[in-house]
Amino acid sequence: MEQTYIMIKPDGVARGLVGEIIKRFEQRGYQLAALELMNPTKQLLEEHYQDLKGKGFFAGLIEYMASGPVVGMVWVGKDVVKVGRKMLGETNPLASAAGTIRGDFCIEVGRNICHGSDSVESAQREIAMWFPRGVKVASRNTSLHALI
Ligand code: PPS
Repeated sequence: MEQTYIMIKPDGVARGLVGEIIKRFEQRGYQLAALELMNPTKQLLEEHYQDLKGKGFFAGLIEYMASGPVVGMVWVGKDVVKVGRKMLGETNPLASAAGTIRGDFCIEVGRNICHGSDSVESAQREIAMWFPRGVKVASRNTSLHALI
């Protein structure tokens, strides 16, 4: 069963979009396997964004991500990494289609509401990092829900 790491960033939490984002993933047919509201340390954020260390926006990104609580989640289901990224929209909200989370709720790349793993490998790394105690996926009644 494929898993992805979705994180609602401080602007998404502050703007009250947690329920809206969860609703979209649930309605699409995905299963929530873990959720935590947390205040990440800069050290954890620097590890999460380690591939971006050379970018000019890196320091600002870390400051922004540490500026308030985030909601980290693990979602499970068929093609959830790719479909989850589609549901989020493009990194730049102005390039995001209406109907996507970023296309519907934001306009600034530096305040783009949510993060989603970009590959199955990244998802595994990010889930292990943000949920070090592990994630248990409950079995689902597939007669009531989309098959996952
Ligand atoms: S890049 O430059 O192609 O590596 O960037 P990209 O893969 O599109 O984005 C990687 C993450 O960096 C965030 N990002 C930014 N944050 C703040 N300011 C600016 N200008 C900026 N540009 C990119 C982007 O949202 C990605 O983070 P996540 O958490 O995955 O959304």
